Amino acid sequence: MKKFNKDFWWGASSSAFQIEGAWDEAGKGESVADYNSFKHSGQQADTKVASDFYHHYRDDIKLMKQMGMKVYRFSIAWTRIIPDGDGEINQAGIDFYNNVINELLANDIQPFVTLYHFDLPLALAKKYNGWASRDCVAAFRRYAQVCYRAFGDRVKYWQVINEQNLMIRVNERMNMDDVPAAEAEKVRAQMDYHMFLACAYAMADCHEMVDHGKVGPAVSSTMTYPVSDRPQDVWAARMNDNFKTNYALEMYCFGKYPGYYVDYLQKMQIYPETQSSDEAALRAAKPDFIAVNYYRTLAAEYLPVDEQHVWGQRQGDVDFNLNGYFKIQPNEHLQATEYGAQIDPTGFRLVLNDYYEKYRLPMIITENGLGTADELTSDGQIHDQYRIDYLKAHIEACYDAIQDGVELFGYCPWSVMDILSSHQGFKKRYGFIYVDRTDFDLKELRRIPKDSFYWYQQVIKNNGIAD
Ligand code: BG6
Repeated sequence: MKKFNKDFWWGASSSAFQIEGAWDEAGKGESVADYNSFKHSGQQADTKVASDFYHHYRDDIKLMKQMGMKVYRFSIAWTRIIPDGDGEINQAGIDFYNNVINELLANDIQPFVTLYHFDLPLALAKKYNGWASRDCVAAFRRYAQVCYRAFGDRVKYWQVINEQNLMIRVNERMNMDDVPAAEAEKVRAQMDYHMFLACAYAMADCHEMVDHGKVGPAVSSTMTYPVSDRPQDVWAARMNDNFKTNYALEMYCFGKYPGYYVDYLQKMQIYPETQSSDEAALRAAKPDFIAVNYYRTLAAEYLPVDEQHVWGQRQGDVDFNLNGYFKIQPNEHLQATEYGAQIDPTGFRLVLNDYYEKYRLPMIITENGLGTADELTSDGQIHDQYRIDYLKAHIEACYDAIQDGVELFGYCPWSVMDILSSHQGFKKRYGFIYVDRTDFDLKELRRIPKDSFYWYQQVIKNNGIAD
Protein backbone atom coordinates (compact mmCIF):
# COMPACT_ATOMS: atom_id res chain seq x y z
CA MET A 1 0.00 0.00 0.00
CA LYS A 2 1.30 3.43 -0.93
CA LYS A 3 0.15 5.50 2.03
CA PHE A 4 0.03 9.28 2.10
CA ASN A 5 0.54 11.60 5.03
CA LYS A 6 -2.46 11.38 7.36
CA ASP A 7 -3.34 15.04 6.72
CA PHE A 8 -3.17 14.75 2.95
CA TRP A 9 -5.97 16.69 1.28
CA TRP A 10 -7.94 14.34 -0.93
CA GLY A 11 -10.45 16.31 -2.92
CA ALA A 12 -11.83 17.16 -6.33
CA SER A 13 -12.35 20.27 -8.45
CA SER A 14 -14.72 22.28 -10.59
CA SER A 15 -15.26 25.83 -11.81
CA ALA A 16 -18.28 28.10 -11.66
CA PHE A 17 -19.13 28.48 -15.34
CA GLN A 18 -18.69 24.77 -15.95
CA ILE A 19 -20.77 23.43 -13.07
CA GLU A 20 -23.28 26.00 -11.83
CA GLY A 21 -25.70 26.83 -14.64
CA ALA A 22 -28.26 29.48 -13.58
CA TRP A 23 -26.18 31.77 -15.74
CA ASP A 24 -28.44 34.81 -15.29
CA GLU A 25 -30.30 33.89 -12.13
CA ALA A 26 -30.55 36.04 -8.98
CA GLY A 27 -28.86 39.02 -10.54
CA LYS A 28 -25.85 37.27 -12.07
CA GLY A 29 -24.20 39.20 -14.91
CA GLU A 30 -22.97 37.68 -18.16
CA SER A 31 -19.35 36.62 -18.29
CA VAL A 32 -16.96 36.25 -21.17
CA ALA A 33 -17.20 32.49 -20.62
CA ASP A 34 -21.01 32.66 -21.02
CA TYR A 35 -20.75 34.89 -24.06
CA ASN A 36 -18.27 32.62 -25.81
CA SER A 37 -20.16 29.46 -24.95
CA PHE A 38 -23.36 30.96 -26.42
CA LYS A 39 -21.54 31.42 -29.73
CA HIS A 40 -21.38 27.62 -29.94
CA SER A 41 -24.85 26.88 -28.52
CA GLY A 42 -25.98 25.40 -31.85
CA GLN A 43 -23.22 22.78 -31.79
CA GLN A 44 -22.85 21.83 -28.12
CA ALA A 45 -23.99 22.51 -24.56
CA ASP A 46 -23.39 26.01 -23.20
CA THR A 47 -23.17 27.51 -19.71
CA LYS A 48 -26.91 28.09 -19.27
CA VAL A 49 -27.58 24.95 -17.28
CA ALA A 50 -24.25 23.09 -17.20
CA SER A 51 -24.59 20.57 -14.30
CA ASP A 52 -27.08 22.83 -12.54
CA PHE A 53 -25.05 22.76 -9.33
CA TYR A 54 -26.73 26.06 -8.49
CA HIS A 55 -29.96 24.19 -7.79
CA HIS A 56 -28.46 20.84 -6.72
CA TYR A 57 -25.62 21.95 -4.47
CA ARG A 58 -27.02 20.40 -1.29
CA ASP A 59 -27.39 16.93 -2.80
CA ASP A 60 -24.13 17.26 -4.68
CA ILE A 61 -22.28 18.08 -1.49
CA LYS A 62 -23.84 14.99 0.11
CA LEU A 63 -22.26 12.93 -2.67
CA MET A 64 -18.92 14.65 -2.09
CA LYS A 65 -19.18 13.71 1.55
CA GLN A 66 -20.08 10.14 0.60
CA MET A 67 -16.98 9.94 -1.58
CA GLY A 68 -14.97 11.06 1.44
CA MET A 69 -13.64 14.35 0.06
CA LYS A 70 -11.67 16.45 2.53
CA VAL A 71 -11.50 19.49 0.27
CA TYR A 72 -13.51 20.91 -2.60
CA ARG A 73 -11.76 23.23 -5.01
CA PHE A 74 -14.29 25.41 -6.84
CA SER A 75 -14.51 28.94 -8.17
CA ILE A 76 -16.66 31.93 -7.39
CA ALA A 77 -18.27 33.63 -10.37
CA TRP A 78 -17.20 37.28 -10.25
CA THR A 79 -20.45 38.06 -12.11
CA ARG A 80 -22.57 36.66 -9.27
CA ILE A 81 -20.83 38.88 -6.74
CA ILE A 82 -20.48 42.02 -8.89
CA PRO A 83 -22.60 41.49 -12.02
CA ASP A 84 -20.95 44.18 -14.14
CA GLY A 85 -17.50 43.65 -12.67
CA ASP A 86 -16.99 46.97 -10.88
CA GLY A 87 -20.40 48.26 -9.84
CA GLU A 88 -23.00 47.21 -7.29
CA ILE A 89 -22.48 44.20 -5.08
CA ASN A 90 -25.13 41.52 -5.54
CA GLN A 91 -26.16 40.18 -2.13
CA ALA A 92 -27.91 37.18 -3.72
CA GLY A 93 -24.55 36.05 -5.12
CA ILE A 94 -22.90 36.34 -1.73
CA ASP A 95 -25.79 34.41 -0.19
CA PHE A 96 -25.37 31.58 -2.69
CA TYR A 97 -21.68 31.10 -1.92
CA ASN A 98 -22.32 31.46 1.80
CA ASN A 99 -24.77 28.58 1.49
CA VAL A 100 -22.30 26.46 -0.46
CA ILE A 101 -19.45 27.18 1.96
CA ASN A 102 -21.58 26.51 5.01
CA GLU A 103 -22.88 23.28 3.55
CA LEU A 104 -19.34 22.14 2.79
CA LEU A 105 -18.17 22.94 6.29
CA ALA A 106 -21.17 21.19 7.81
CA ASN A 107 -19.99 18.13 5.89
CA ASP A 108 -16.37 18.52 7.03
CA ILE A 109 -15.21 19.52 3.57
CA GLN A 110 -12.74 22.34 3.39
CA PRO A 111 -13.63 24.99 0.77
CA PHE A 112 -10.70 25.92 -1.48
CA VAL A 113 -11.74 28.88 -3.57
CA THR A 114 -10.54 30.18 -6.93
CA LEU A 115 -11.47 33.80 -7.50
CA TYR A 116 -11.37 33.84 -11.27
CA HIS A 117 -11.61 30.84 -13.56
CA PHE A 118 -11.89 32.08 -17.18
CA ASP A 119 -15.07 34.10 -16.47
CA LEU A 120 -14.29 37.80 -16.69
CA PRO A 121 -17.46 39.92 -16.46
CA LEU A 122 -18.50 40.69 -20.02
CA ALA A 123 -19.32 44.25 -19.00
CA LEU A 124 -15.63 44.85 -18.24
CA ALA A 125 -14.63 43.45 -21.62
CA LYS A 126 -17.05 45.88 -23.24
CA LYS A 127 -16.22 48.87 -21.07
CA TYR A 128 -12.43 48.65 -20.85
CA ASN A 129 -11.45 45.93 -23.27
CA GLY A 130 -10.97 43.87 -20.13
CA TRP A 131 -7.43 43.21 -18.99
CA ALA A 132 -6.01 45.57 -21.61
CA SER A 133 -6.92 48.33 -19.17
CA ARG A 134 -5.50 49.06 -15.76
CA ASP A 135 -9.05 49.70 -14.58
CA CYS A 136 -9.58 45.97 -14.70
CA VAL A 137 -6.80 45.53 -12.12
CA ALA A 138 -8.63 47.85 -9.74
CA ALA A 139 -11.94 46.10 -10.43
CA PHE A 140 -10.46 42.69 -9.70
CA ARG A 141 -8.75 43.88 -6.56
CA ARG A 142 -12.03 45.23 -5.25
CA TYR A 143 -13.84 42.00 -6.14
CA ALA A 144 -11.19 39.93 -4.34
CA GLN A 145 -11.53 42.16 -1.28
CA VAL A 146 -15.32 41.74 -1.32
CA CYS A 147 -14.80 37.96 -1.31
CA TYR A 148 -12.21 38.01 1.47
CA ARG A 149 -14.53 40.14 3.57
CA ALA A 150 -17.59 37.99 2.88
CA PHE A 151 -16.04 34.52 3.11
CA GLY A 152 -12.60 34.89 4.69
CA ASP A 153 -13.85 33.97 8.16
CA ARG A 154 -14.47 30.43 6.82
CA VAL A 155 -12.40 30.12 3.62
CA LYS A 156 -8.70 29.97 4.44
CA TYR A 157 -7.30 28.68 1.15
CA TRP A 158 -7.52 30.85 -1.97
CA GLN A 159 -6.34 30.67 -5.53
CA VAL A 160 -6.33 33.94 -7.39
CA ILE A 161 -6.51 33.26 -11.12
CA ASN A 162 -6.88 29.83 -12.66
CA GLU A 163 -4.35 29.12 -15.39
CA GLN A 164 -3.59 32.68 -16.37
CA ASN A 165 -0.68 31.22 -18.35
CA LEU A 166 -3.05 29.17 -20.51
CA MET A 167 -5.93 31.63 -20.62
CA ILE A 168 -3.69 34.37 -22.04
CA ARG A 169 -2.91 32.19 -25.06
CA VAL A 170 -6.56 31.89 -26.10
CA ASN A 171 -8.03 34.94 -27.82
CA GLU A 172 -11.61 33.93 -27.11
CA ARG A 173 -11.02 33.76 -23.34
CA MET A 174 -9.35 37.16 -23.35
CA ASN A 175 -12.07 38.57 -25.57
CA MET A 176 -9.42 39.44 -28.13
CA ASP A 177 -11.11 38.06 -31.21
CA ASP A 178 -11.54 41.51 -32.73
CA VAL A 179 -8.03 42.73 -32.04
CA PRO A 180 -6.17 43.11 -35.39
CA ALA A 181 -3.40 40.51 -35.79
CA ALA A 182 -0.70 43.19 -35.96
CA GLU A 183 -1.60 44.43 -32.49
CA ALA A 184 -2.49 41.12 -30.89
CA GLU A 185 0.83 40.32 -29.21
CA LYS A 186 1.16 43.80 -27.76
CA VAL A 187 -2.36 43.67 -26.34
CA ARG A 188 -1.75 40.16 -25.03
CA ALA A 189 1.45 41.20 -23.26
CA GLN A 190 -0.35 44.12 -21.63
CA MET A 191 -3.27 41.96 -20.50
CA ASP A 192 -0.92 39.36 -19.07
CA TYR A 193 0.99 41.98 -17.14
CA HIS A 194 -2.20 43.47 -15.71
CA MET A 195 -3.32 40.05 -14.55
CA PHE A 196 0.01 39.52 -12.78
CA LEU A 197 -0.42 42.85 -11.08
CA ALA A 198 -4.00 42.03 -10.07
CA CYS A 199 -2.82 38.70 -8.73
CA ALA A 200 -0.05 40.35 -6.73
CA TYR A 201 -2.49 42.76 -5.09
CA ALA A 202 -4.95 39.98 -4.39
CA MET A 203 -2.26 37.83 -2.77
CA ALA A 204 -1.07 40.66 -0.54
CA ASP A 205 -4.66 41.59 0.37
CA CYS A 206 -5.45 38.00 1.27
CA HIS A 207 -2.60 37.95 3.74
CA GLU A 208 -3.77 41.20 5.21
CA MET A 209 -7.50 40.56 5.31
CA VAL A 210 -7.93 36.83 5.91
CA ASP A 211 -6.85 35.60 9.30
CA HIS A 212 -4.45 32.68 8.64
CA GLY A 213 -5.27 32.97 4.94
CA LYS A 214 -3.14 31.10 2.42
CA VAL A 215 -3.06 32.06 -1.21
CA GLY A 216 -1.33 31.06 -4.41
CA PRO A 217 -1.57 30.86 -8.17
CA ALA A 218 -2.91 27.90 -10.16
CA VAL A 219 -0.86 27.16 -13.24
CA SER A 220 -1.49 25.00 -16.25
CA SER A 221 1.73 23.02 -16.05
CA THR A 222 3.78 22.13 -19.09
CA MET A 223 6.47 19.50 -19.24
CA THR A 224 8.25 19.33 -22.57
CA TYR A 225 10.67 16.72 -23.88
CA PRO A 226 13.12 17.47 -26.68
CA VAL A 227 12.33 15.39 -29.78
CA SER A 228 16.04 14.53 -30.12
CA ASP A 229 19.30 14.98 -28.29
CA ARG A 230 20.30 17.83 -30.62
CA PRO A 231 21.22 20.72 -28.32
CA GLN A 232 18.86 23.07 -30.21
CA ASP A 233 15.96 20.71 -29.51
CA VAL A 234 16.85 20.45 -25.84
CA TRP A 235 16.88 24.25 -25.68
CA ALA A 236 13.59 24.40 -27.62
CA ALA A 237 11.92 22.10 -25.09
CA ARG A 238 13.21 24.24 -22.23
CA MET A 239 11.96 27.41 -23.90
CA ASN A 240 8.53 25.91 -24.53
CA ASP A 241 8.16 25.37 -20.78
CA ASN A 242 9.64 28.78 -20.08
CA PHE A 243 7.32 30.64 -22.43
CA LYS A 244 4.17 28.75 -21.49
CA THR A 245 4.53 28.33 -17.74
CA ASN A 246 7.82 29.16 -16.06
CA TYR A 247 7.86 32.87 -16.89
CA ALA A 248 4.54 33.09 -15.01
CA LEU A 249 5.82 31.19 -11.99
CA GLU A 250 8.84 33.49 -11.90
CA MET A 251 6.52 36.48 -11.85
CA TYR A 252 4.29 35.02 -9.11
CA CYS A 253 7.19 33.94 -6.93
CA PHE A 254 9.80 36.65 -7.52
CA GLY A 255 7.78 39.57 -8.89
CA LYS A 256 9.65 40.04 -12.15
CA TYR A 257 9.95 38.57 -15.60
CA PRO A 258 13.01 36.39 -16.22
CA GLY A 259 15.71 37.59 -18.64
CA TYR A 260 14.70 35.44 -21.61
CA TYR A 261 11.18 36.83 -21.40
CA VAL A 262 12.23 40.45 -21.03
CA ASP A 263 14.48 39.95 -24.04
CA TYR A 264 11.62 38.56 -26.12
CA LEU A 265 9.18 41.32 -25.10
CA GLN A 266 11.72 44.03 -25.79
CA LYS A 267 12.89 42.71 -29.12
CA MET A 268 9.29 42.29 -30.23
CA GLN A 269 8.61 45.85 -28.99
CA ILE A 270 5.67 44.66 -26.94
CA TYR A 271 6.98 45.26 -23.43
CA PRO A 272 3.89 46.30 -21.42
CA GLU A 273 3.31 49.73 -20.00
CA THR A 274 4.10 49.79 -16.32
CA GLN A 275 3.94 52.29 -13.47
CA SER A 276 6.68 53.00 -10.97
CA SER A 277 4.68 51.61 -8.03
CA ASP A 278 4.21 48.23 -9.75
CA GLU A 279 7.62 46.85 -9.00
CA ALA A 280 7.14 47.00 -5.26
CA ALA A 281 3.62 45.57 -5.51
CA LEU A 282 4.77 42.65 -7.65
CA ARG A 283 7.64 41.84 -5.34
CA ALA A 284 5.59 42.18 -2.17
CA ALA A 285 3.25 39.36 -3.16
CA LYS A 286 4.40 36.07 -1.71
CA PRO A 287 2.49 32.94 -2.64
CA ASP A 288 2.12 30.32 0.09
CA PHE A 289 1.82 27.45 -2.36
CA ILE A 290 1.63 26.62 -6.03
CA ALA A 291 -1.50 24.92 -7.32
CA VAL A 292 -0.66 22.66 -10.23
CA ASN A 293 -3.02 21.58 -13.00
CA TYR A 294 -1.62 18.68 -14.98
CA TYR A 295 -3.08 16.76 -17.91
CA ARG A 296 -0.32 15.83 -20.36
CA THR A 297 3.18 16.47 -21.63
CA LEU A 298 4.49 17.81 -24.92
CA ALA A 299 7.54 17.31 -27.13
CA ALA A 300 9.28 20.09 -29.02
CA GLU A 301 11.94 20.73 -31.63
CA TYR A 302 13.78 23.87 -32.57
CA LEU A 303 11.80 26.04 -35.01
CA PRO A 304 14.06 28.15 -37.20
CA VAL A 305 13.11 31.42 -38.84
CA ASP A 306 12.81 31.47 -42.61
CA GLU A 307 11.68 33.83 -45.35
CA GLN A 308 8.01 33.61 -44.38
CA HIS A 309 8.34 33.17 -40.64
CA VAL A 310 10.23 35.85 -38.81
CA TRP A 311 11.77 35.66 -35.36
CA GLY A 312 9.18 35.72 -32.58
CA GLN A 313 6.25 34.97 -34.88
CA ARG A 314 3.66 32.88 -33.13
CA GLN A 315 1.41 30.27 -34.72
CA GLY A 316 -1.60 28.69 -32.99
CA ASP A 317 -3.02 29.25 -29.54
CA VAL A 318 -2.81 26.86 -26.58
CA ASP A 319 0.17 24.90 -27.96
CA PHE A 320 1.52 27.72 -30.10
CA ASN A 321 4.80 27.45 -31.98
CA LEU A 322 7.27 30.32 -31.86
CA ASN A 323 9.75 30.99 -34.62
CA GLY A 324 13.31 31.10 -33.41
CA TYR A 325 12.31 29.03 -30.37
CA PHE A 326 10.16 25.90 -30.51
CA LYS A 327 7.68 23.79 -32.43
CA ILE A 328 5.41 21.20 -30.80
CA GLN A 329 5.58 17.64 -32.09
CA PRO A 330 3.78 14.45 -31.08
CA ASN A 331 5.63 12.16 -28.68
CA GLU A 332 5.74 8.71 -30.23
CA HIS A 333 6.41 7.10 -26.84
CA LEU A 334 3.08 8.15 -25.36
CA GLN A 335 -0.53 7.16 -25.88
CA ALA A 336 -3.12 9.87 -26.15
CA THR A 337 -6.69 10.07 -24.87
CA GLU A 338 -9.53 10.10 -27.41
CA TYR A 339 -9.36 13.91 -27.19
CA GLY A 340 -5.63 13.98 -27.91
CA ALA A 341 -3.99 14.59 -24.50
CA GLN A 342 -0.79 12.53 -24.23
CA ILE A 343 -1.00 10.42 -21.08
CA ASP A 344 2.18 10.62 -19.04
CA PRO A 345 2.33 9.94 -15.28
CA THR A 346 6.14 10.12 -15.31
CA GLY A 347 5.85 13.65 -16.68
CA PHE A 348 3.75 14.45 -13.62
CA ARG A 349 6.52 13.32 -11.28
CA LEU A 350 9.01 15.31 -13.34
CA VAL A 351 7.02 18.52 -13.30
CA LEU A 352 6.42 18.36 -9.55
CA ASN A 353 10.13 17.83 -8.93
CA ASP A 354 10.96 20.63 -11.32
CA TYR A 355 8.71 23.21 -9.64
CA TYR A 356 9.79 22.19 -6.19
CA GLU A 357 13.47 22.48 -7.05
CA LYS A 358 12.91 25.94 -8.50
CA TYR A 359 10.43 27.52 -6.09
CA ARG A 360 10.62 25.47 -2.89
CA LEU A 361 6.94 26.03 -2.21
CA PRO A 362 4.39 23.46 -1.06
CA MET A 363 2.15 22.31 -3.87
CA ILE A 364 -1.34 21.00 -4.34
CA ILE A 365 -2.78 19.39 -7.44
CA THR A 366 -5.94 21.26 -8.35
CA GLU A 367 -6.59 19.57 -11.69
CA ASN A 368 -5.68 16.24 -13.25
CA GLY A 369 -8.01 13.87 -15.03
CA LEU A 370 -9.18 12.00 -18.07
CA GLY A 371 -11.74 13.47 -20.47
CA THR A 372 -13.78 10.78 -22.24
CA ALA A 373 -17.21 10.37 -23.77
CA ASP A 374 -18.49 8.04 -21.01
CA GLU A 375 -21.62 6.08 -21.90
CA LEU A 376 -24.15 4.50 -19.59
CA THR A 377 -24.16 0.71 -19.99
CA SER A 378 -27.31 -1.46 -20.01
CA ASP A 379 -27.17 -1.75 -16.21
CA GLY A 380 -27.50 2.03 -15.97
CA GLN A 381 -23.93 2.45 -14.69
CA ILE A 382 -20.63 3.87 -15.86
CA HIS A 383 -17.82 1.34 -15.74
CA ASP A 384 -14.87 3.67 -16.18
CA GLN A 385 -11.93 1.41 -15.46
CA TYR A 386 -9.91 3.53 -17.91
CA ARG A 387 -10.34 6.53 -15.58
CA ILE A 388 -9.38 4.46 -12.55
CA ASP A 389 -6.21 3.33 -14.37
CA TYR A 390 -5.38 6.91 -15.31
CA LEU A 391 -5.93 8.29 -11.82
CA LYS A 392 -4.12 5.43 -10.11
CA ALA A 393 -1.01 5.98 -12.26
CA HIS A 394 -1.09 9.71 -11.54
CA ILE A 395 -1.60 9.25 -7.81
CA GLU A 396 1.38 6.90 -7.86
CA ALA A 397 3.37 9.65 -9.54
CA CYS A 398 2.35 12.01 -6.71
CA TYR A 399 3.46 9.44 -4.18
CA ASP A 400 6.81 9.03 -5.95
CA ALA A 401 7.29 12.79 -6.11
CA ILE A 402 6.68 13.00 -2.36
CA GLN A 403 9.34 10.30 -1.83
CA ASP A 404 11.64 12.40 -4.02
CA GLY A 405 11.25 15.21 -1.50
CA VAL A 406 8.47 17.30 -3.03
CA GLU A 407 6.14 18.96 -0.53
CA LEU A 408 2.75 18.01 -1.94
CA PHE A 409 -0.18 18.50 0.39
CA GLY A 410 -3.21 17.57 -1.68
CA TYR A 411 -4.74 16.08 -4.78
CA CYS A 412 -7.93 17.47 -6.31
CA PRO A 413 -8.57 15.82 -9.65
CA TRP A 414 -10.76 17.24 -12.37
CA SER A 415 -13.63 17.00 -11.95
CA VAL A 416 -15.83 16.27 -8.99
CA MET A 417 -18.70 15.36 -11.30
CA ASP A 418 -19.36 15.67 -15.01
CA ILE A 419 -19.35 19.32 -15.92
CA LEU A 420 -19.23 21.37 -19.08
CA SER A 421 -15.88 21.05 -20.86
CA SER A 422 -14.06 24.35 -21.13
CA HIS A 423 -14.61 24.35 -24.90
CA GLN A 424 -15.98 20.97 -25.98
CA GLY A 425 -19.52 20.79 -24.62
CA PHE A 426 -20.91 18.12 -22.31
CA LYS A 427 -19.85 14.97 -24.13
CA LYS A 428 -16.29 15.19 -22.85
CA ARG A 429 -16.57 14.07 -19.25
CA TYR A 430 -14.05 13.97 -16.43
CA GLY A 431 -16.21 13.41 -13.35
CA PHE A 432 -16.49 10.79 -10.62
CA ILE A 433 -20.25 11.25 -10.87
CA TYR A 434 -22.11 10.95 -14.13
CA VAL A 435 -24.57 13.75 -14.83
CA ASP A 436 -27.29 12.35 -17.02
CA ARG A 437 -27.72 14.91 -19.75
CA THR A 438 -26.44 15.28 -23.28
CA ASP A 439 -25.35 18.38 -25.14
CA PHE A 440 -28.95 19.19 -26.04
CA ASP A 441 -31.21 17.01 -23.89
CA LEU A 442 -31.17 17.99 -20.22
CA LYS A 443 -33.21 14.94 -19.17
CA GLU A 444 -33.43 15.02 -15.36
CA LEU A 445 -29.76 15.76 -14.73
CA ARG A 446 -29.67 12.66 -12.54
CA ARG A 447 -26.42 12.04 -10.66
CA ILE A 448 -24.99 8.51 -11.01
CA PRO A 449 -21.74 7.66 -9.21
CA LYS A 450 -19.31 5.96 -11.60
CA ASP A 451 -17.05 3.03 -10.75
CA SER A 452 -14.28 5.60 -10.27
CA PHE A 453 -16.39 7.22 -7.50
CA TYR A 454 -16.33 4.01 -5.44
CA TRP A 455 -12.67 3.44 -6.24
CA TYR A 456 -11.69 6.97 -5.14
CA GLN A 457 -13.79 6.54 -2.01
CA GLN A 458 -11.53 3.59 -1.08
CA VAL A 459 -8.38 5.54 -1.94
CA ILE A 460 -9.45 8.27 0.45
CA LYS A 461 -10.54 5.81 3.10
CA ASN A 462 -7.22 3.95 2.93
CA ASN A 463 -5.31 7.20 2.54
CA GLY A 464 -3.43 5.68 -0.36
CA ILE A 465 -3.44 3.15 -3.13
CA ALA A 466 -2.78 -0.56 -3.22
CA ASP A 467 0.51 -1.59 -4.89
C1 BG6 B 1 -8.12 23.22 -17.55
C2 BG6 B 1 -9.18 24.20 -17.10
O1 BG6 B 1 -7.25 23.86 -18.41
O2 BG6 B 1 -8.55 22.11 -18.27
C3 BG6 B 1 -10.57 23.62 -16.93
O3 BG6 B 1 -8.78 24.85 -15.92
C4 BG6 B 1 -10.86 22.65 -18.06
O4 BG6 B 1 -11.49 24.66 -16.87
C5 BG6 B 1 -9.82 21.56 -18.01
O5 BG6 B 1 -12.14 22.13 -18.05
C6 BG6 B 1 -10.06 20.45 -19.03
O6 BG6 B 1 -10.15 21.00 -20.30
P1 BG6 B 1 -11.40 20.72 -21.22
O7 BG6 B 1 -11.26 21.67 -22.35
O8 BG6 B 1 -11.25 19.30 -21.64
O9 BG6 B 1 -12.61 20.96 -20.43
